[in-house]
Amino acid sequence: MKPAGHTAVMASRREPPDSLEFFPTPPWATRALMEHVFSHLGFSDDLQFSACWDPACGEGHMIEVLLEYFGGGGWGGDVFDYGSGYRVEDFLDERTVIGSPADGVRPEFIITNPPFRPAARFTLRAMELAPVVALLLRTQWLEGEDRYNTIFRDRPPTLYAPFVERVPMVKGRWDPKASTATAYAWFVWVRGRAPMAPFLIPPGRRKALTRSDDARRFEQIAPAPLLQAAE
Ligand SMILES: C[S@@+](CC[C@H](N)C(=O)[O-])C[C@H]1O[C@@H](n2cnc3c(N)ncnc32)[C@H](O)[C@@H]1O
Repeated sequence: MKPAGHTAVMASRREPPDSLEFFPTPPWATRALMEHVFSHLGFSDDLQFSACWDPACGEGHMIEVLLEYFGGGGWGGDVFDYGSGYRVEDFLDERTVIGSPADGVRPEFIITNPPFRPAARFTLRAMELAPVVALLLRTQWLEGEDRYNTIFRDRPPTLYAPFVERVPMVKGRWDPKASTATAYAWFVWVRGRAPMAPFLIPPGRRKALTRSDDARRFEQIAPAPLLQAAE
């Protein structure tokens, strides 16, 4: 099963409003989930038969990397139409259809980099819909009384996996040369599994997990002011 649409992230770009917090994930940070965090959880074999969904997929920087690993395929959707061919839908809307666009199969894995402001609502909804949820979030997301009360007190993550190195994310594009002072972690919930000790994603992943064709697949050539003006 392939996702609904998409050939390259720069196909026919449209600029989203700032409020949607479009910060594409560097491909290597998604591979770190698959190759380090999921293997630490012992998932390697399950991935052969499972399907995944990125319900806030933007231009596909994360879902296209996930499809390198998930034998059961996967698909992406986003509330904004970036022009990349993914399903356009609001993950937080209860009327959104849950199954795959191809055959209605429900995902075993929901994996995304959710917008920061509604991330708690994303988390609770994702946990209702799939047995495994993996979210890439700032490490500071662990803090805060509201999140403690709504999420962490009763639903501690099965695995909290902070990156030892920084994961630079910039608005609207993947810039392989960017740097950042913000720290990120994968938060993973596995239904029915007790929390494990935190797992540190080892350094050197950016270099080791960046592939030679990532630039061709994921770097954006230029913004699209003409398209924006036309809308
Ligand atoms: C931080 S970006 C992540 C994009 C992509 N997952 C990646 O990692 O490259 C957050 C995305 O959430 C989308 N988004 C915001 N609110 C949404 C909603 N209610 N339902 C679905 N997508 C939403 C935005 O349009 C944006 O593409």
